[in-house]
Amino acid sequence: MNQKSKEYSQEDWQGHYESNDLGWDLGQVAPPFVKLWQEEKLPVGKVLVPGCGRGHEVVFLAENGFEVTAIDFSEGAVTYLENALNKRNLKGRVLHQDFFSLDDSHDGVYDLVLEQTFFCAISPRQRMDYVLNVARILRSGGILVGLFYHTDKEGGPPYNTTREDIETNFSKKFEIQELDKTSLSAEQRKDKEWLGIFKKKG
Ligand SMILES: C[S@@+](CC[C@H](N)C(=O)[O-])C[C@H]1O[C@@H](n2cnc3c(N)ncnc32)[C@H](O)[C@@H]1O
Repeated sequence: MNQKSKEYSQEDWQGHYESNDLGWDLGQVAPPFVKLWQEEKLPVGKVLVPGCGRGHEVVFLAENGFEVTAIDFSEGAVTYLENALNKRNLKGRVLHQDFFSLDDSHDGVYDLVLEQTFFCAISPRQRMDYVLNVARILRSGGILVGLFYHTDKEGGPPYNTTREDIETNFSKKFEIQELDKTSLSAEQRKDKEWLGIFKKKG
């Protein structure tokens, strides 16, 4: 990752799975999400995980009673995740498609969208489109919970995400309920990610 001038294509992402070059993959559910779940801050119900990768969050949510839909456009990601769910006899819908082409059967469906390192993976040009899509698929009052990567570096992916980027992009459609760094971040992400909880307006 971090090629400065080139935007990433689906093939570029798939290439990472083929060469097992998955620098972003924590190998486990991100600890801040576990804490939120323990504190009952994640509404149990229908959840969508965009750009799910190998889907450690998806497995965790499925194990804990959520009705999960996961999306990734890389075959290597969805194949891995389907196997992981099957091995554990867990249910979950895994969609092999572009997040930006979700059809209207997803409109207003989800109680929760949960993500990490997806907002920073897409081109900054797509950020408002991301916000509009997340707002579209959440039910009224639904929430987005995310870990947003504050790389403090030029170029990407991963593309830097500042507090201001978040406030500028999300505040039209979302009420920002929490936005802070968290001491629970995985070691390699300490002080480098924002934990956000945003409630859909209206
Ligand atoms: C940096 S990885 C993060 C994966 C996972 N969230 C994690 O933290 O382990 C970004 C993922 O987003 C996927 N992706 C990028 N753009 C996408 C798009 N437009 N639609 C669906 N998936 C996309 C890539 O295939 C990749 O698996």
